[in-house]
Amino acid sequence: MTKRVLILPGDGVGREVCAEAEKVLRAAAPDVAVESALMGGAAIDKTGEALPPQTLAKAKEADAVLLGAVGAPKYDSLPAQQRPERGLLALRAGMEVFANLRPAQCYAQLAAASSLRDELVAGLDVLIVRELTGGIYFGEPRGVEESGGERRGYNTMAYSEKEIERVARVAFEAARRRNKKLCSVDKANVLDVSILWREVVARVGADYPDVALSDMYVDNAAMQLVTMPSQFDVIVTGNLFGDILSDIAAALTGSIGMLPSASLGASGRGLYEPVHGSAPDIAGQNKANPLAAILSVAMMLRHSLQDEAAAARVENAARQTIADGARTADLGGDMQCSQMGAAVLGNLS
Ligand code: IPM
Ligand code: MG
Repeated sequence: MTKRVLILPGDGVGREVCAEAEKVLRAAAPDVAVESALMGGAAIDKTGEALPPQTLAKAKEADAVLLGAVGAPKYDSLPAQQRPERGLLALRAGMEVFANLRPAQCYAQLAAASSLRDELVAGLDVLIVRELTGGIYFGEPRGVEESGGERRGYNTMAYSEKEIERVARVAFEAARRRNKKLCSVDKANVLDVSILWREVVARVGADYPDVALSDMYVDNAAMQLVTMPSQFDVIVTGNLFGDILSDIAAALTGSIGMLPSASLGASGRGLYEPVHGSAPDIAGQNKANPLAAILSVAMMLRHSLQDEAAAARVENAARQTIADGARTADLGGDMQCSQMGAAVLGNLS
């Protein structure tokens, strides 16, 4: 059966990088049916909603969704519930993609672009598995309330055993296919929810005796990532901690413009996004690095379209393009987004 991919370019550089990623997808997997829909600020402008119901319905029917990015300064003054970012959270929740895989690999040729010394990041290969549909991003109660003339804002960090267990299993399975080391990151010295997290991850670990499990507090994990990143293989953590640690890991690789992500649920369906966001400062200038979106297509081919050969071809083409010396502005070069996309296409065998 023909596989169906929905592309949601969204806002800012999302549109530019998705255009390049789409060309690569069509070239790597010509039989896939590709369709686009509105999402984020672009959807707010046309329909008043960041995630129009038609878009969510299409996303649920597709085998995979590629999302560019959402958000732009012009929407920052909207009430919280109407902002483009809420549309993204609703998409993740609606597609039930609870496990967010964020691999951070440092290409040898880019080690010099890292914020750390070459010798600390050369060969870096960390996979962050971030819980994506729970935790403080979604916990209830939440809100801002007024009492006695003063407002009070609050959110709830909550995880059920089931939510912890299913993301832990994804992380253990991933570690099993890699270097068999899993570090679970929490704040169990302070947070009750983290005490449960740690206990459940350990329980799941009993099913994976071949994987070495360790635990780390999130503040220490942040420090370890910027001092000795190569100690990590797979990291599993909650939604908020994963958001923060994955940006740190991204910076270590030389540029956040290189990082893809896959968000997976219980079915093979997935949501694929570059980690970089909408980058309003360079939006519309053909300056963005399309590699994160292109590498997200590779993850899509692997995890949702069951085409490992095509995934490897796309990854090799991206790697070759970097080896050829192609560099967008984030990597210290002056190549345009569309030129970088064309270079990858040219390297696609
Ligand atoms: C990310 C982003 C999003 C998040 C924002 C845009 C809602 O930072 O994907 O990491 O916090 O999850
Ligand atoms: Mg983030």
